[in-house]
Amino acid sequence: AAIPVITLDGPGGVGKGTLSRLLAQSLGWHLLDSGAIYRALAYAAREQGISDQDIHALVDMARTLPLHFQGDAGQTRVFLAGEPIDEVLRQPEIGEMASRLAVHPPVRAALLERQRAFRAAPGLIADGRDMGTVVFPDAPLKVFLTASVEERAKRRLNQLNEQGVNASLSAVKTEIAARDERDQRRSVAPLQPAGDARILDTSGQAVSETLSVLNGWIKDTF
Ligand code: C5P
Repeated sequence: AAIPVITLDGPGGVGKGTLSRLLAQSLGWHLLDSGAIYRALAYAAREQGISDQDIHALVDMARTLPLHFQGDAGQTRVFLAGEPIDEVLRQPEIGEMASRLAVHPPVRAALLERQRAFRAAPGLIADGRDMGTVVFPDAPLKVFLTASVEERAKRRLNQLNEQGVNASLSAVKTEIAARDERDQRRSVAPLQPAGDARILDTSGQAVSETLSVLNGWIKDTF
């Protein structure tokens, strides 16, 4: 039988990262943070002075990027050519640039196999924008998370503050709204629920409440 996958898609700041980590931990499954791959590509491109419009150079880079993830679920660390880059990847400018290079279909195609390679026994939790629609269309459980832009901006701001990054709520909100726009409008793999996704609005919900809904769906599915 195919290795089980649960996809968690949704807009920025909706809590996918936290929920995916907790689920991967409790199930003992692997974790794919696909946003970190797009962010790492953005970071590497910026370091080398490659523009987010230079599709050819970005595709070359996407194919060869010496990216490694260490650890699973609990504490995943991201390394580029052996250098830890977790912290720099969280910068809002990197998220912004990631969403600008993510609009190019050849760039997305070049990252496809790299993402699918995370599917390993006993199972995978895949977090992103197109996990259920494009990367793992056969996933038995697809979840699409939503929450108001206000709520997502507050969550993202708290997360940044915890990480010692300074930002204002209005700046975070503007950045999230701009990324939502771009992620939804792009022609390939736009941010939208798969036809067979279960949609969960997490506005006003504590992490524990969302988790218990997800755990119920997991029991129904596997
Ligand atoms: O989830 P995260 O904020 O880390 O993602 C950064 C950007 O990477 C997103 O705004 C989106 O444009 C892009 N992305 C994507 N497809 C994914 C994951 C992220 O296009 N599966």
